[in-house]
Amino acid sequence: MTWMPCTRRCAGSPCLPGTRWESPVRTLEKAINEAGVAVDEMVFAPVAASLATLTADERRLGSILIDIGFGCTTYAAFSGEKMLISGCFPIGANKINDDLVHRFQTTAVGAEKAKREAGTVLLSDVGEEETLSVPTIEGRGSHVISRRELCRTVRIRMQETFELIAGEVWRQMPQDAPCTGVVLSGGGSQLDGIVALAEEVFVKRARLGELEGLVDATHLLQSPELPSRSPAVAMGLLAYAQAAADSDTHVAVRDRGRSEGMWSRLKRQLLTKKGGVA
Ligand SMILES: Nc1ncnc2c1ncn2[C@@H]1O[C@H](COP(=O)(O)OP(=O)(O)O)[C@@H](O)[C@H]1O
Ligand SMILES: [Mg+2]
Repeated sequence: MTWMPCTRRCAGSPCLPGTRWESPVRTLEKAINEAGVAVDEMVFAPVAASLATLTADERRLGSILIDIGFGCTTYAAFSGEKMLISGCFPIGANKINDDLVHRFQTTAVGAEKAKREAGTVLLSDVGEEETLSVPTIEGRGSHVISRRELCRTVRIRMQETFELIAGEVWRQMPQDAPCTGVVLSGGGSQLDGIVALAEEVFVKRARLGELEGLVDATHLLQSPELPSRSPAVAMGLLAYAQAAADSDTHVAVRDRGRSEGMWSRLKRQLLTKKGGVA
């Protein structure tokens, strides 16, 4: 989901980037409210992820957060401690699996397993002779495919996704806005070699957005079932709600006139924890 509901009462709304999402967001909110959960505010997914991953310096000196989820890849660019642009492409890590299913006539489960265990975007690391076995599409047998071909298919989709985002980011960003690099989050950022590919496409330094400085009381983040950067959005939402709860002033939800105050409080409370200067 691209817009994530924040069910704690939060002051201000610094993260609603535009009005074109207004109608679907309200419909989603209504559906959640009717399910018995009161939505206080919606936070755009990459904005939430940025709160869990970006350092104060990255936010100040400029960086692009890209969250690669299951069905969508979302992005937000920050500079001078402000969010400058943001957006979403309905192409997530699962699109790679669809490509693999079609290309190699395998099952969705087989494609996911092959991608995780044998996939990389670094084609030079893969020998021409390397092979692997994947289930046949009806799931009753298996066949042998070239690992190089598998990785080429993975790389084409991932490279295209980054190129789409880069095109939008460079088109929308003010020309003089500084940008130190790209930070990757979401389960899709587990893909081998993804940092190098991001650096190649964006011609910027890139890194994985590890979820640092957060107390994991439930040890959920240590679960081998959960890709380590997958919950960046959820973690960011918790940080957002916590910062709002900690703040002294609880103003009306979606009181956009107060958004600067809220943003400043978030920076102070979250980024200082991450060792930055807010
Ligand atoms: N090791 C891995 N290599 C490549 N992709 C991975 C790996 N682990 C998880 N993923 C991908 O991460 C995606 C899920 O990301 P996640 O952030 O959990 O999704 P969402 O936030 O949209 O629910 C899946 O499509 C999955 O294929
Ligand atoms: Mg995710």
